[in-house]
This record gives sequence, structure tokens and C-alpha cells, in this order.
Amino acid sequence: MASRPDLSVNIGGLKIKNPVITASGTFGYGDELNSFFDPSLLGAIIVKGLSLKPMPGNPPPRTVETPCGLLNAIGLANIGIDAFIQEKLPSLDTINTPIITNIYGHTIKEYAEMAKRIESVDRVAAIEINISCPNVEKGGMAFGTDPDTAAMVTDQVVKNTTKPVIVKLTPNVTDISTIAKAVESAGAQSISVTNTFLGMAVDVATRQPKLANIIGGLSGPAIKPMALFLVHKAVANVKIPVIGLGGIMDHQDALEFLLVGARAIQVGTANFINPKAAIEIVNGLTDFCVREKVSNINEIIGSLVTSQ
Ligand SMILES: Cc1cc2nc3c(=O)[nH]c(=O)nc-3n(C[C@H](O)[C@H](O)[C@H](O)COP(=O)(O)O)c2cc1C
Repeated sequence: MASRPDLSVNIGGLKIKNPVITASGTFGYGDELNSFFDPSLLGAIIVKGLSLKPMPGNPPPRTVETPCGLLNAIGLANIGIDAFIQEKLPSLDTINTPIITNIYGHTIKEYAEMAKRIESVDRVAAIEINISCPNVEKGGMAFGTDPDTAAMVTDQVVKNTTKPVIVKLTPNVTDISTIAKAVESAGAQSISVTNTFLGMAVDVATRQPKLANIIGGLSGPAIKPMALFLVHKAVANVKIPVIGLGGIMDHQDALEFLLVGARAIQVGTANFINPKAAIEIVNGLTDFCVREKVSNINEIIGSLVTSQ
């Protein structure tokens, strides 16, 4: 093979140089991990979930480690959309990769309002709608478990922006394809699958839940097979691109998601264990393509071999 493989992919109008994106809530506001590697080498960066007004989040303890996983109940602690645009975004100017904002609203109106505010911000390449957070009282996952509400949120965001809209789905539903189809019909340009699975952990000595919020969202390697299944199911049911995530720790995990048809992948909990995980996945995918004589990563996407 003459040159480096082409890793670029197109996610519903958002063209990125490789399919590796950092997941919301695990990569700060975009530049916190600068000292570990050059974030310009990533396909894209999704920043911490933002709300219209700043949110303090849930009381501690907000995270607890479980076998092969992490339970979190952060509760969307964030500085708010305006402070992000004014104070954080300018420092991301030197990063040569698309910035995607992840937005969360208490009401459908709030989602629409945030889309409006982001619309005039050129530095933001796309919007990921979080209708899947299990750790907040109002909104969040409640919007993502009902197909009509999920469609309404999507519709209102799409109507208020020209930027590509990614809808992030929750796994905590009976049939993810119903929600996926509903947001596709409402105009989503792509979906990300999946957010965290509801879970809890108990301290038997104190007989108390380990999280102050009692319940939380499970992420990390423990959820990978379930997330992979949901991506497989979503891919079979929608035409828009699916971004896969859930427990991706290395390039082999990333390849599993690409093989089942994910157009791109996100790296979440792995960033906490190995801050260089995302860039190692980019390099691992490049080496894999060279070794396997794959000139374009799109040849791998959806190329799962089955006997059926
Ligand atoms: C500490 C923490 C904070 C998170 N915050 C957000 C958030 O603000 N918005 C969001 O959509 N997802 C959030 N997530 C979910 C992740 O983006 C991702 O969907 C999930 O962790 C599954 O991927 P993983 O197993 O690779 O971590 C958070 C996850 C963790 C562990």
C-alpha cells in the first residue's frame, strides 16, 4: 500500500479525519488532557454536557468503581452554555479538530434555546443532544425513553440549528430501535449509542448505597457487549449513521463497533484509566489498516461476517 490509510468518515454531514471521538463528560471541556497528547489528532471532541444555566450536580459520593465498570451519578455538574461559549471555547481555538457540544435541558424549550445560542458559534461543529442522562431528576433520560418526546426534542433542536444534530440514546428502554427510528424521522442527522446503563452498588458494612444519589449510570468494559448489541440493533433499523460507544478501551474494541456498522466511535471511561486511550486507538486503527491492507476505514464499517 502506497500511503497512509484514509481514516476519515462522514457522520451525517460532519466530516472528521478519523472515527475516534472523546465522549461527553469524560474529556472535560476539551483541553484538560492537552499535556498527554495533541487533541488535534482526534476525530472530534465532545465536551461535558451543558445546560442553559450552571448546574452544581449531585452531592458526593458521585462515582464508585465496580468490577470492570464505573458507576457515576455526577448529575450534569457544568458551568452553563454561556460561560462555556465565553470562557472555555476561546481556549480551544488552537485545537484543529471539530468541537461538539453535548446539551441537556429540563424542558424541550431549553433544548431549543441552547440550539439557538450555539447556532451563531462557528467553532462548534455539531450538537449532541443528551436525552439519556440517568442522573438528573427532570429531563435527561425521561426524554429519551418515550419515542414521541424524543422526537419532539429532536425536532425543536433541528429547527433551531443548521449544524448536524446527533441524538444520544439511552440503553434503558425495551426497544432502542423504536427511539432510534423516532429521532431519525424527526430529522436527527445521526445517533450515538449508548449512554450509561442504570445501576447501583451497596456498602454492606453501612447498609448504605455507595452513591449519594442511590442510583447511577454504569459505564466501562462491563457494558461493552450490551452496547455492541444495541449498536448492531440500531444500525439495522435506521439509515442515518450510528456512533458507537460503551466500554471501548482499545482499538480492538473500536474495531468491534465499526465492524457491526458504527460509522465512528466514542471513548469514555477509558480516558480516566489511560488518558492516552483515545490517541492510542487512533494509532491502533491506523496500524491495523496498514497491516490488513485496508486503504480506507469505510471498507471495515459494517463488514461483519455472519453465516446468516
Ligand atoms: C463521569 C461521567 C460523566 C458523564 N457525563 C456525561 C454527560 O455530561 N453527557 C452525556 O451525554 N454523557 C455523559 N456520560 C456518558 C458517557 O459519555 C458515555 O456515554 C458512557 O460512559 C458510556 O461509554 P464508556 O463506557 O466508554 O464510558 C458520562 C459518563 C461518565 C463516566
